[in-house]
Amino acid sequence: SAPSLASSDGFLQCIREKIPSQLLYTQCNTNFTAVLASSVRNPRFFTNTTVRPIFVITPNDASHVQAAVLCGRWQGVRLRVRSGGHDYEGLSYRSARPEVFGLLDLGNLRTISINQWEYTAWVDSGATIGELYYTIAKNNPEVAFPAGECPTIGVGGHFSGGGVGMMMRKYGLSIDNILDAKLVNANGELLDRATMGEDLFWAIRGGGGGSFGIVLSWKVHLVQVPPKVTVFSIAKTLEQGAIDILTKWQDVGPSLPSNLMITVMLSGQQAAFRAMYLGTCSSLVATMGEQLPELNMTSADCQPMTWLQSTALSFITFSSNNITLEEALLSRTTSLSTFTKVKSDYVTRAIPKAAWKDIFSWFTMKGAGLIVLEPHGGLMATIPTAATPYPHRSGVLYIIQYIAFWQGDGGVAATTWLGSFYDFMGHYVSNNPRQAYVNFRDLDIGQNVVADDVSSSESGKVWGERYFMSNYQRLASVKATADPMDYFRNEQSIPPLLPVP
Ligand code: FDA
Repeated sequence: SAPSLASSDGFLQCIREKIPSQLLYTQCNTNFTAVLASSVRNPRFFTNTTVRPIFVITPNDASHVQAAVLCGRWQGVRLRVRSGGHDYEGLSYRSARPEVFGLLDLGNLRTISINQWEYTAWVDSGATIGELYYTIAKNNPEVAFPAGECPTIGVGGHFSGGGVGMMMRKYGLSIDNILDAKLVNANGELLDRATMGEDLFWAIRGGGGGSFGIVLSWKVHLVQVPPKVTVFSIAKTLEQGAIDILTKWQDVGPSLPSNLMITVMLSGQQAAFRAMYLGTCSSLVATMGEQLPELNMTSADCQPMTWLQSTALSFITFSSNNITLEEALLSRTTSLSTFTKVKSDYVTRAIPKAAWKDIFSWFTMKGAGLIVLEPHGGLMATIPTAATPYPHRSGVLYIIQYIAFWQGDGGVAATTWLGSFYDFMGHYVSNNPRQAYVNFRDLDIGQNVVADDVSSSESGKVWGERYFMSNYQRLASVKATADPMDYFRNEQSIPPLLPVP
């Protein structure tokens, strides 16, 4: 039955006996709003009409998480879990529908311990990827971890959904480098890989956050990087041949040596080619001369730096600013000024040159945002579709991230642009299903329907096959074993595939 405010009283009574009182914030607490806002990344989900949690718990021990799940199950109060709060639809801390729920914010659980002999680390979900990068590289600058590009992203949500980043062509996604995990399941039990079993361990590495339990900690395999990497950023306008280079890049980008990743950002009437190379300037110039001479990349474009420095470069501007590495990677402050809405696509056949002219015309329109193209290929193409829930492997040329952003009341123009441009792009991208990336969460592609207090597997299939393709069915089966009552639930959680009665 639907949880009521009365059952939330029961929950609070239950939890007060089990955790220190300063870790619990009810709506009456003067710090409630500040704690809730602490990692809200997108002001779209921090308005007067946002459905907010009725309490926030900030555990600093696994036993607090277990207690919250046990009290929640007992009193019928659902929990949402937040690590870094970067979910593009805010599902970690708000509900899209009226719902009584509590928030478990893992920000206090952020220990990172490195085993330098084993090339492994245990990282808690509440750490950010900036903290992870910093801790690893400070211990040994030739050791790294493949993950995404914004330092404030939380490990918990990021690893749950994949982890696309500048080293994926060489080392795969974050999830391809996870060796073990500690998870609190729907019965409040604390499990590791051995006790959760391989099916559940498979599902939590890429099946999306918020479905299978609360992952407290991950054991990761660390990778090697040279003492210096080389990066460049070269922007080309239409007059400078952006379309020809882009058209060729679509085939070259995914087939380059795996230690070279070149992404493209389209905005306005230009394409910015941005590269990270695990090697020296001279060999990069040689490779570029052979593979993509049209870009005219020369040694003057090379920016040698440590891998750690490369992770701190701003994703959007790619210009070194006047803040320290520590400030760039360790700050948890997020600004609530820019509203965003994101969508994603995968391209499996190069888009014809003529079409790029039409695509560029979209960037002159009112409300226009930007798109980022990230090539796959390399190691990504060799990992079988079913190895992890992330199915977009062999055959994918690149992923497109569409970003609409606005301030103040620009939302209608920006989201209208995004929706129409996405419809237009349907001609050129993967179809049947039109694929999407779960970490670029998009509620437009479908939301669960709840019947008899359980999310229906049929409704999940609509969006689930777009994120997970043939892996959706296995995820829904794992959910049926791990959480048949559908306790861990949100608008896009994996529904349990229950046997037909
Ligand atoms: P958040 O805390 O919001 O959680 C996301 C989801 O996971 C929610 O459903 C939540 O309930 C669940 N969850 C969180 N912690 C959990 C836990 N411990 N156990 C189980 N479930 C948990 N992606 C990418 O691959 N590469 C990139 O380069 C980027 N770049 C990027 C930049 C910016 C500015 C943003 C806002 C986002 C990205 N992303 C990205 C997307 C990012 O990977 C995605 O939003 C992650 O889910 C964020 O993880 P957080 O822990 O911050 O999210």
